[in-house]
Amino acid sequence: MPTEFDDKLNEIKQKCLNCQKCSLCHSKTNTVFSAGVPNAKIMLIGEAPGYYEDQQGEPFVGKAGKLLDQILGCVGFSRKENIYICNTLKCRPPENRDPLPEEKEACWEYLKAQVDILQPRIILLCGRVAVNSFIDTKLGITKLRGKWYEGPHFSKMMPIFHPSYLLRNDSKEKGSPKWLMWQDIKEVRRVYDQMN
Ligand code: URA
Repeated sequence: MPTEFDDKLNEIKQKCLNCQKCSLCHSKTNTVFSAGVPNAKIMLIGEAPGYYEDQQGEPFVGKAGKLLDQILGCVGFSRKENIYICNTLKCRPPENRDPLPEEKEACWEYLKAQVDILQPRIILLCGRVAVNSFIDTKLGITKLRGKWYEGPHFSKMMPIFHPSYLLRNDSKEKGSPKWLMWQDIKEVRRVYDQMN
């Protein structure tokens, strides 16, 4: 039987699927609302759908998404079991350009509703665009990543590198982006395991 929680999420999803608040609704193939487990303790928020996400209607299914799944899998997290995944924008910007301020503003309603309804205990902000939706800072992701910030509904929020950035920086040497990501995801797992 659907819970009140499912009803609220479905209602906002339907609204999002029919959204015409910005021009991306004219160029998209599919709206990409979310993947994973709605009542997960962890929500991961990325930037915006790319080509494959737009085609399939699911976040993080391209090359970056495969790497993300591998990284999460290394510490036993998976979208089938214990993580909810969504993006700052639900529609693909043409040619994967950066989201425009007015697009982020139009789409904020849906992301905010996802956070407010699901109230995850841990929020992972994947890359600069997601970080800037929640943290007012001029600092870059390299300075912010790996640290815990106070998030909405008493959640713990951590900026992490975007997997696309890791694809462009292949080294696994100590201090490299991939190595730092490994430290961060282990820290997330440690904190997750302490939560009841
Ligand atoms: N990059 C993102 O930020 N989100 C996706 O869904 C795919 C690529």
